[in-house]
Amino acid sequence: MLPKINPANTQAWLLLTKHQSEEMRHITMKRLFAEDEDRFNKFSIKFGDILFDYSKNIIVQKTLQLLLQLADDCKVKEAITEMFNGDKINETENRSVLHTALRNFSGEPVLSDGKDVMPDVQRVQQQMKAFCEKIHSGEWKGYSGKKIKYIVNIGIGGSDLGPVMVTEALKPYWVEGIQPYFVSNIDGTHIAETLKKITPDETLFLIASKTFTTQETMTNAHTAREWFLQSAKDEQHVAKHFAALSTNEKEVKKFGIDTVNMFEFWDWVGGRYSLWSAIGLSIALTIGYNNFEELLKGGYETDVHFKTTAFDKNIPILMALIGIWYTNFFKAQTEAILPYDQYMHRFAAYFQQGNMESNGKYVNRNGSETNYATGPVIWGEPGTNGQHAFYQLIHQGTLLIPCDFIAPAVSHNPIGDHHLKLLSNFFAQTEALMKGKDEAEVREELKKENKSPEEIKRLVPFKVFKGNKPTNSFLIKEITPKTLGNLIALYEHKIFVQGIIWNIFSFDQWGVELGKQLASKVLPELENNNKITSHDSSTNGLINAWKAMK
Ligand code: F6P
Repeated sequence: MLPKINPANTQAWLLLTKHQSEEMRHITMKRLFAEDEDRFNKFSIKFGDILFDYSKNIIVQKTLQLLLQLADDCKVKEAITEMFNGDKINETENRSVLHTALRNFSGEPVLSDGKDVMPDVQRVQQQMKAFCEKIHSGEWKGYSGKKIKYIVNIGIGGSDLGPVMVTEALKPYWVEGIQPYFVSNIDGTHIAETLKKITPDETLFLIASKTFTTQETMTNAHTAREWFLQSAKDEQHVAKHFAALSTNEKEVKKFGIDTVNMFEFWDWVGGRYSLWSAIGLSIALTIGYNNFEELLKGGYETDVHFKTTAFDKNIPILMALIGIWYTNFFKAQTEAILPYDQYMHRFAAYFQQGNMESNGKYVNRNGSETNYATGPVIWGEPGTNGQHAFYQLIHQGTLLIPCDFIAPAVSHNPIGDHHLKLLSNFFAQTEALMKGKDEAEVREELKKENKSPEEIKRLVPFKVFKGNKPTNSFLIKEITPKTLGNLIALYEHKIFVQGIIWNIFSFDQWGVELGKQLASKVLPELENNNKITSHDSSTNGLINAWKAMK
């Protein structure tokens, strides 16, 4: 059972509140850097091929000490042990949380309900590996005798975002001759546009759904099946072209997929943590099983780091604590994730679900309302695109937006000086956000531009940047399956630690259920022309207007 401690009642919380208002509120990072030449060395950590620099934050040693005390007061260490041990820390669903078992290369057993889950994990991994080999070698043939060329993953949320993000991030590793597509939206446009690009006899559909009942996925899956049968004609061919990634054998059978083609996972894998499981089959088919295994190994390396490293050198712990520092003591409401890597363009979207579905909760583990803020809004786009879109607000807006900057040292596409230019922006932005530009600097600049004293006076206020905007930088040698695995697991554990401290349950998602229930109530009302009166006047009005319009 997880501890149920209100963080706001801990001694550390009170001390942090005081520390923020009395000592840190007006301090500038610029000054902190000027006063301590060694600040970068003190506040950065090397982990494998990743350098994590957290020196550009509004923190001093005392801040960290108090944040670490908060982690202790909230029993984070104990909670980590409980998670890795397979205790049922997802209490509202009575489940263990063991996505870490999917990337456990320690050779040690992992118990859930007293049963070692590792034999099952390894059995499915072997099944995935053998399947990938058959597809890639061409041994597996479609109904017309041709090789499989197109992989279409049909899933949504955690059964889509992880595979999309990882396959995009690892495009340089794609197996020749395989083209993946991902269909998630129930909007018929998504599947219709995808079906235009593929041929039925060369396509493998992966129906990816933990529950195998999700409306979007099942609707798209049925449409894909009908489309396929229009060409294949014979139901027997379905076995060569449809596989299921699911925990629900009964529903898989009901859909008509032979359970030989079912890749199983278990209720102790949360949807948004499932890319490491059979849900990752589209990844393994796209980049090859060996590269998928490298991704898992990267995740495992992070798990070892997280479990065994002292908290003051533990990257997910520090990421979590720094986030809490801004959310709860500086009242920041959002965090941006900004990868300077085009292949990583879905990384922020992926962790939008990871964070917001996990920690978007106002009910604490005692079942009452929190009296402090929990998960922030997560958003972001790749740099440098973001610079020309929303960085204005980060630099000169009224909100404090802590940002994570992520960049590879080496590009997969070393064309001319593109990468130097990209990285010059990566380095310059965090510096500018930290330092800002004061009045004297602006005046000097304008003088050099030969502006008149009146013009200088008029323009100065608009050109001053206050700076002191916090950032973390992740400099990664190269985006490889291993380093991406490292990075994803760092962010996953950050979310876990924050949820523990905020005293919320990070592994359920009851908030999403409401929408599902309401939509299923409205659907039958759309199937006839009757006037609708069962809702509020706005909803009735909209439905009836639609009926008149369609
Ligand atoms: O959006 C809610 C959710 O339950 C997510 O947590 C999950 O990733 C997604 O739906 C898809 O669910 P399933 O894999 O069961 O289709």
